[in-house]
Amino acid sequence: MTATVVLGLAWGDEGKGRVCDALASDVDYVSRYSGGNNAGHTVRVGEEEFKLHLVPSGIVREGVVCTIGNGVVVNPEVLVEEVEALEDRGLEVRDRLKVDGRAHLIMPYHIALDSHREIALGDARIGTTNRGIGPAYEDKVARSGIRVQDIFDEGILKSKLKAALREKNAIFENVYGEKQYEVADVASWLLSFCEFIGPMVADTGTLLREALDDRERVLLEGGQATLLDNDHGTYPFVTSSNPTVGGAVVGSGISTRHLEYVVGVTKAYTTRVGDGPMPTELFDETGETIRSVGREYGTTTGRSRRVGWLDLPAVKWAASLNGITHVAITLLDVLSAVDEINICIGYEIDGERIEGYPMHQTDLHHARPVYKSLPGWGEDITWCRMRGDLPSAAQDFVGFVEAEVGAPLCMISVGPERDQAIVERIGI
Ligand code: GDP
Ligand code: IMO
Ligand code: MG
Repeated sequence: MTATVVLGLAWGDEGKGRVCDALASDVDYVSRYSGGNNAGHTVRVGEEEFKLHLVPSGIVREGVVCTIGNGVVVNPEVLVEEVEALEDRGLEVRDRLKVDGRAHLIMPYHIALDSHREIALGDARIGTTNRGIGPAYEDKVARSGIRVQDIFDEGILKSKLKAALREKNAIFENVYGEKQYEVADVASWLLSFCEFIGPMVADTGTLLREALDDRERVLLEGGQATLLDNDHGTYPFVTSSNPTVGGAVVGSGISTRHLEYVVGVTKAYTTRVGDGPMPTELFDETGETIRSVGREYGTTTGRSRRVGWLDLPAVKWAASLNGITHVAITLLDVLSAVDEINICIGYEIDGERIEGYPMHQTDLHHARPVYKSLPGWGEDITWCRMRGDLPSAAQDFVGFVEAEVGAPLCMISVGPERDQAIVERIGI
């Protein structure tokens, strides 16, 4: 069988969790492949709202096996808390969740570094989630990271910690004038999670490949999104992993041969948390309306999200980069609150109209959006379950996006509830 990737086409929070939940009714496995608990994925089922940070959204669907892949960075304390909280709400988690032994761990010193660096950057800060994500990935690449499998051998763990802390403590002492970390303290903190996490540790890549060879269905759930990708995003205002399609293969340990569908998720407008360029950002009342109707406050940090019109050149570029086969549009219902809808169809940079999405970061900072205006529909659409149910102005809006992006819509989400969606052409 083949694997399907669900990933964001903008700066995150596109509703990936919600889309994965819809697709998870048809799959056997759901796997996170990148990022860590910087992600916040919301799934609403009736009165219940689940906010998932590390555990894949598939956990909400009975019987689905979930994996946290080698490409994820795992804060063990957060993992334990999240699993316990989900189990307290009646979900069966530990029997269905597997964590890759190759995944790297987020350590207390990563979180401290993340926060010191942001303060030191001042106005040039990235606006990170302060979860230690960047420093954990840095250690992974520097080959000084601690992996999940290391917590089962106290000797190896301590020797790795000793090597890592030699440099880290020098930074804390000399650059930030802060407390030092003791090998014994950090080791005992880590070892305290062994009993809980131990039974969940697995070679999840092999598990997924075998499942795929056995014709089982696998969904790969992206964290973050394309414009936050460390290679392709609005660097340096990005995260430290590759949420794009290549990262899905590397971070879950499957082969490109297994990949068939790539679902790109976009809101009907754009949001961003954290700093960095956002050409279509709104600073007016319309922006306020969208923020409050769309409840645009971060799932992980509670920060108010920046809001703007749909940025089509960015979405089209992201769609091409990921080779998406389908598009999912979310939060269409939020635009019911707006009389006239704008879609950015190009940019003007220093008075000149440019085609496509600029490569130069400076250009992006100066880019003025060129808008196409579409009439709003001004009525409730949360009850719509077929495209034909939508008011004609809403059909025109989604039709325009579909044609511009050049991939068929597989889902139009018209509300946060599981059933508030128009689902089309999902051929997983
Ligand atoms: P993710 O990080 O991509 O999974 O997205 P988040 O969960 O951080 O943010 C999406 C937010 O929009 C959540 O609060 C969802 O419950 C909500 N949401 C998702 N789809 C819809 C929709 O179609 N309409 C509305 N009104 N809310 C939605
Ligand atoms: P989901 O999966 C939105 C942003 C942060 C910051 C930048 C770097 O819910 O879509 P980091 O802590 O990763 O070093 O922060 O990336 N960011 C997200 N923004 N949704 C996310 O995840 C994000 N994960 C990271 O706000 O701008
Ligand atoms: Mg989110």
